[in-house]
Amino acid sequence: MDAKDPLTEKLDDTSAILALDTQGQFGMVAGLGEQVREAYGAARERVEESPHEVGGVVVAGMGGSAIGADLVRGVYDSSLYCNMETVRNYSLPGWVDSRTVVFAISYSGNTEETLSCLGQALERGSRVICITSGGRMAALAGEQELPLITIPSGLQPRAAIGYLSIPVAACLEAMGLVGELEDDVRETAAALEDLAEAYGMDRPAADNPAKQLALKLHGNIPVIYGAELTAVAARRWKGQINENAKTLAFCNEFPELNHNEIVGWERPADLQARFRVVYLEDRETHTQNLKRMELTADSLPGEVIRHATSGASRLARVLSACYLGDWVSLYMAVLQGVDPSPVERIEELKRRLG
Ligand code: PA5
Repeated sequence: MDAKDPLTEKLDDTSAILALDTQGQFGMVAGLGEQVREAYGAARERVEESPHEVGGVVVAGMGGSAIGADLVRGVYDSSLYCNMETVRNYSLPGWVDSRTVVFAISYSGNTEETLSCLGQALERGSRVICITSGGRMAALAGEQELPLITIPSGLQPRAAIGYLSIPVAACLEAMGLVGELEDDVRETAAALEDLAEAYGMDRPAADNPAKQLALKLHGNIPVIYGAELTAVAARRWKGQINENAKTLAFCNEFPELNHNEIVGWERPADLQARFRVVYLEDRETHTQNLKRMELTADSLPGEVIRHATSGASRLARVLSACYLGDWVSLYMAVLQGVDPSPVERIEELKRRLG
C-alpha cells in the first residue's frame, strides 16, 4: 500500500484535528443543516405576520454577522419589490426613514458600528429588528421593547451563519416580501446534512473534495471568483479562509472584475505562481457571464479550480457553495497547524478601540 504524504496524513488524523480545534468549530460546521432547520422553526414562532408596505430594508452588521444577510439578499433579491442593502459601517444612508425595516445584527451584541446604526435607526423611527446572542444590543432591545431574535451564545459568529441568516429570511417572509420559504429551508438543511458526510473529517482525503481542495490551496493565496448568486459565496469563502486558516485570500465577481482586476493579473509576474483561482459556478448565471468566465480563465495563472453549485432552490445552491468553503478553510487551518476558532487580531483591535 502507498504511504500517504504527510499533509494528507494530517487531514486524516481526526484525533489531532480534535485536539487542535479547542472550541469545537468542526462540530459546529458539521451541524449547520440542523442549525438552519432550528433557526427557521424558532424564527417562525417568534415573528408575526405583518404584511404592510415596506419602503426598504437595511441590514446593519459587520463581518460574520453581516454575511448571512448578504446571502439572503443574494438569494431573494430579484423577487423583492424594495431595495435591500447591507451597511457595514457607522452610518445609515440618508434614505432610511420610518418606512424602512432595519435589521441590526451582531452576534456579540457589542459591535460599535452596528450599535451606531441601531441608534440612528431608532432616531429616524425605522422599524428595527435586533438579532443577537446578548451584549449591549440585547440590553437595549429589552429597555426599548424592540423586536428581538435571540440566538444561542458561545459560538464564533461565522459558525452561526444559519442563526444569523435564516431569521432575516423568515422576517421577510412574514412581511410578505418573499414567498413561502419552508421548501427551500427543508431542501437546504437536508443538502447540508448530506454534504457534512461528504466533507466531514471522518471521510478520508482520497474521497473528500474539501480536503483535496484544501491541499491545493495550502501555502498559496486563494482568489475566489463568483458571479451573481455565487458572488456572496465567494465573499464568504474569503472571510472563512482569513479567519479560520489565518491566511490571506481575496474575492471578486463577474462581470465587474472584467473591467479592472483582469488587467492586474499582468504583474507582479514573480508572484503569479502563489495565487490559486477558484471559480464558484451556478447554472442560472447569465450566458454572457458564463462566457466571460471561460474567456477570463485563459488569462489567469495556472489552472482554475472549479466548483459548481448543486440543488434546486437558490438558497440550497448558495449555502452549499458556502459550505464547501467553510470546510476547506477548516482543513487549511489544520494544514497550517492553527486552531480555527480564535481571531486574536480582531479581538485585540476591538480592545484597543475601547
Ligand atoms: O467572525 C468574527 O468574529 C467577526 O467577523 C465578527 O463577526 C465581527 O467582528 C462583528 O462582531 P459581531 O458578530 O459580534 O457583531
